[in-house]
Amino acid sequence: MTSAGTPRFAGKVAVVTGGSRGIGAAVAARLAGEGAAVAIGYRSGREAADELVAELKTQGAEVIAMRADVADPDETEALIEYAVAEFGQLDILASCAGIEHFDALENVTPADFDRVYTVNTRGQFFAAQHAAARLRAGGRIVLTSSVSASRAIFAHTLYASSKAAVESMVLNLAPELGARGITINAIAPGGTATDMAAEHAASYQHPKLAGKIPMTEWLTTHGALGRLADPAEIAAGYAFLASGDASYMTGRTLQLDGGHF
Ligand SMILES: NC(=O)c1ccc[n+]([C@@H]2O[C@H](COP(=O)([O-])OP(=O)(O)OC[C@H]3O[C@@H](n4cnc5c(N)ncnc54)[C@H](OP(=O)(O)O)[C@@H]3O)[C@@H](O)[C@H]2O)c1
Repeated sequence: MTSAGTPRFAGKVAVVTGGSRGIGAAVAARLAGEGAAVAIGYRSGREAADELVAELKTQGAEVIAMRADVADPDETEALIEYAVAEFGQLDILASCAGIEHFDALENVTPADFDRVYTVNTRGQFFAAQHAAARLRAGGRIVLTSSVSASRAIFAHTLYASSKAAVESMVLNLAPELGARGITINAIAPGGTATDMAAEHAASYQHPKLAGKIPMTEWLTTHGALGRLADPAEIAAGYAFLASGDASYMTGRTLQLDGGHF
């Protein structure tokens, strides 16, 4: 709420890619909960997206969902155009869609490389491009990096580098978009309790510890807060960057990692 009691995102329209589950679903819920009309994109999770839409609608939110695989920039553009057609404008892009990858250097194939970069890197670049075409002054773009972009994890090079590129993207797009009054930043989440973390928990380790201790124990040692984030705690960061409170922040990556050293 603002000091006047109006929800912070009342009158704003947001697109959330990868909004059917995990961090993206929490971002969609947070923005909608604070008054934004939200268009959720998903790749395969139609049922989950529809359930989220139904739940948020019962809370009075304006929410729509559509299949939009960010591997195809035309589908991302279609999602953004759907939001504009339904709600009349675009104010916020939260680019949350992403995929994990772990493997040692000798096992990574060109097809693996293309698959991971096509979603995590190329997908986010063209999401920013298509959103920028519709955003006006005051518009906000929030992309998704990872703690992995700046901490070495065993056999994680492909994913980590696909996310590091996103931090460079926001840095370099900031002046281009700043000239139009639009900000662009990234969030670098640490380990967050989602399907992705559950599926790959055993692999997230310091190179010298890989496979030797459970991730929860490793986080207790290496994370200042000693636990995974709840997706809602990460969504709070997207909401901050999407809000007027972040009007002087652009080109930066916000580390939301519970103090991961
Ligand atoms: N969880 C963590 O610990 C962590 C840490 C750092 C960064 N991140 C990043 O945070 C973001 C969200 O992660 P998460 O943990 O919430 O992942 P998740 O639980 O695996 O959920 C991934 C979401 O992205 C969507 N998605 C995947 N590929 C897509 C594509 N090609 N096009 C459109 N949507 C696609 C999925 O949609 P469908 O279900 O429809 O396929 C789903 O909604 C990702 O960018 C991830 O890299 C996560």
